[in-house]
Amino acid sequence: MPVVIAGALVKGKENYLAIGAYGIMSMQPPLLYISSMKAHFTNAGIKETGYFSINVPSAGLVKETDYCGLVSGRDTDKSTVFSTFFGKVKHAPMIRECPVNAVCKVVKTVELPNNEVFIGEVVEYYVDTPCLTDNIPDPKKIDPMLLAGHSYRKLGGVAGAAFSAGKALIKKP
Ligand SMILES: Cc1cc2nc3c(=O)[nH]c(=O)nc-3n(C[C@H](O)[C@H](O)[C@H](O)COP(=O)(O)O)c2cc1C
Repeated sequence: MPVVIAGALVKGKENYLAIGAYGIMSMQPPLLYISSMKAHFTNAGIKETGYFSINVPSAGLVKETDYCGLVSGRDTDKSTVFSTFFGKVKHAPMIRECPVNAVCKVVKTVELPNNEVFIGEVVEYYVDTPCLTDNIPDPKKIDPMLLAGHSYRKLGGVAGAAFSAGKALIKKP
């Protein structure tokens, strides 16, 4: 799972924050979650509109990504850090510079002591054409960053074939 930038409209203005606590909850229907601390400015916008976006930055956007995780939209305007675009849904600002974007409609919010976990159904998604190989998103071309302790790490090589490498250990009857 890469570090992502979540976006929302807060009082009509786009705001972006860095999120490491993000993941896929279900493929059918396609559900993603982000866990965002209650104090964050972005949360107000997600609750106001019922939508958020997920944007996957390439490693080249490390400074901008980190910046969105260091300053709050409460006192700093983050609307001009990136160029914003909208899809069909006009409530979820997306980042043009990020190669992968998704619009999520909030279907459930889980309240934790300090966080709100927004579970969103993906209703639109976009991948930059140069980041596709045989029409499939290519992680090497997307070049995402992984959050590992206090470092952003780039992807290494392939460790094995998913849904297949373990077959070698399945015992025959
Ligand atoms: C790499 C990175 C990952 C982060 N991940 C999360 C996260 O998963 N959840 C969270 O609540 N805050 C996370 N943060 C902190 C918020 O991005 C940060 O507090 C941000 O300034 C909040 O912005 P806002 O007040 O404009 O919403 C992260 C920050 C960084 C730098």
